[in-house]
Amino acid sequence: MTPIELPDPETDGKTSVERAIATRASRRSFARTPLELADVAQLLWAAQGLSHVRDGVEMRTTPSAGATYPLTAFLEVAPDGCAELEAGLYRYDPPQHRLEAELEGSIHDEVTHAALGQDVIGDAPATIVLAADADRTRRQYPDHGDRYVHMEAGHAAQNVHLVCESRDLHSCPVGAFSDDDVAAVLDLPERLEALYLLPCGQPPADR
Ligand SMILES: Cc1cc2nc3c(=O)[nH]c(=O)nc-3n(C[C@H](O)[C@H](O)[C@H](O)COP(=O)(O)O)c2cc1C
Repeated sequence: MTPIELPDPETDGKTSVERAIATRASRRSFARTPLELADVAQLLWAAQGLSHVRDGVEMRTTPSAGATYPLTAFLEVAPDGCAELEAGLYRYDPPQHRLEAELEGSIHDEVTHAALGQDVIGDAPATIVLAADADRTRRQYPDHGDRYVHMEAGHAAQNVHLVCESRDLHSCPVGAFSDDDVAAVLDLPERLEALYLLPCGQPPADR
């Protein structure tokens, strides 16, 4: 399938970082309204997008031990979850700032089941899945590589939550899921391990 070009990310906003930090909370309810592609683009860029070039290396919006960049961000879209995306699974391509379709057709029920049936996944129009190729980091840091990869997932997740806060979107970190089930449903290659699920969406009308 042809890659989906994403709207350029914004590098300024109306909410200060201080305000976003002060008001952020895990918000587990969502409207049925689809997400806008611009929101999806901003969240994926915040998770793993490119920020600047240093010594010829394309650096990302989140720090990475030795700039090894082990993380890949996927986007699971529920039926009618995003205005311009079919239901399914997409992989975010940071250098091109675009989405590559990975699985066509909804896997939403299966992802929810893999997340132990949590409503926060079932009710979300879209979920960012952070997965890691830990060998990239372990090769450079045999003793601390695993630890560093987990730290990086936290950096990426917090960026997503703060951007959600600044754009008046709801989001929640989800770490309780079956590793095997998520890997199977997403058809992850062996080198990738899912670390974090980040369901996101518009706030419900009655919040
Ligand atoms: C590593 C991690 C895993 C989490 N997993 C889940 C989860 O599976 N389901 C869920 O509803 N919340 C999950 N949470 C959210 C926590 O419950 C929440 O952050 C905590 O209650 C503090 O509330 P706050 O985020 O609103 O400040 C997780 C948070 C972290 C940091």
